[in-house]
Amino acid sequence: MTTTIEITKANTSKIQDVDFENLTFGKVFTDHMFECEFKNGSWQTPKIVPYGPLTIDPSARVFHYGQAVFEGMKAYKDDHNDVWLFRPEENLRRINKSAKRLAIPEFPEDIFMDSLKTLLEIDKDWVKPGFGNSLYIRPFVIATDPAIAASPALEYKFFIICSPAQSYYSGDVRVLVAEKFSRSANGGVGYAKAAGNYAAQFYPTSLANEEGFQQIIWTDADTHEFLEEAGTMNVFFRIDDTLITAPTSDRILDGITRKSIIQIAEDAAMKVEVRPITVTEIKAAAKNGSLKEIFGSGTAAVVSPISAFAHKDEVFEIPKQDPSFASIFKEKLLNIQYNKSEDPYGWRQPII
Ligand code: COI
Repeated sequence: MTTTIEITKANTSKIQDVDFENLTFGKVFTDHMFECEFKNGSWQTPKIVPYGPLTIDPSARVFHYGQAVFEGMKAYKDDHNDVWLFRPEENLRRINKSAKRLAIPEFPEDIFMDSLKTLLEIDKDWVKPGFGNSLYIRPFVIATDPAIAASPALEYKFFIICSPAQSYYSGDVRVLVAEKFSRSANGGVGYAKAAGNYAAQFYPTSLANEEGFQQIIWTDADTHEFLEEAGTMNVFFRIDDTLITAPTSDRILDGITRKSIIQIAEDAAMKVEVRPITVTEIKAAAKNGSLKEIFGSGTAAVVSPISAFAHKDEVFEIPKQDPSFASIFKEKLLNIQYNKSEDPYGWRQPII
């Protein structure tokens, strides 16, 4: 460890007040958080402080222009009480890619890794063992300097907050295929984890919720014919025994779970096609019975089977498979993440 981190510990822990068996996603946070300020052209001394509210000037650009990016990652505890991260360097790489697109200064890799591991070491009791239990880690950067000019800020804050989590989706996930609204466009910010990307989905998703669908599968903005991603997840389709997912682009998030699944599938000699896939193709496959599965992948969602999709007033129920590709990938990933199997890829990293 080369980074000097200023650490201020909380006087008391909140952990005894938490019901770890009944967690709502993202509502409870650990005792500490990481923060690092950017000013005068450089990142300042990184700090770990007690988790708590912030004081930010109301004119900060984050409030006006949404100059903010974030990440989602998880820590897992194995049966020996050791804590592991999954491909954390990929999250850092992606937050910096997102930051660049939003004209936010990139964050140094050594400070990120050292600070994250120190924070997790301090709050490791919040990571509970057992499949499904994890500590969801939310790094984010916001523009903080007091000025409302519509131009990149001069000051920022990088934070890491952590929240004990169970599964993101419980029960069936039914999705609506987008016909009118769009999530992203060519040359836009769809590939970035920009805060506003997610806010812009809330209204169309709430309309979908009213119709009994948990998520929208977004389609391309021009034709609404190409299936892209589900907003909180990348999407995979299984037609017969071929696994198909859309290629990443400047419209689609380069999901870490997504690329891990592709790698696992290819190494298992499964048929994988990373190519544009159309609504017409999956509707035809659903009608002729060759559409066996749809599932989403993401850090929060892990691997979430989709039980039905709807498009233009037609609803297609997807019969259950046993075993499903979704369950096979989920198990393989969890075994690596929770240190229950070999990790031939070197994806797992200890926090110490
Ligand atoms: C994640 O999977 O970490 C995400 O970013 C989805 C989140 C918006 C809940």
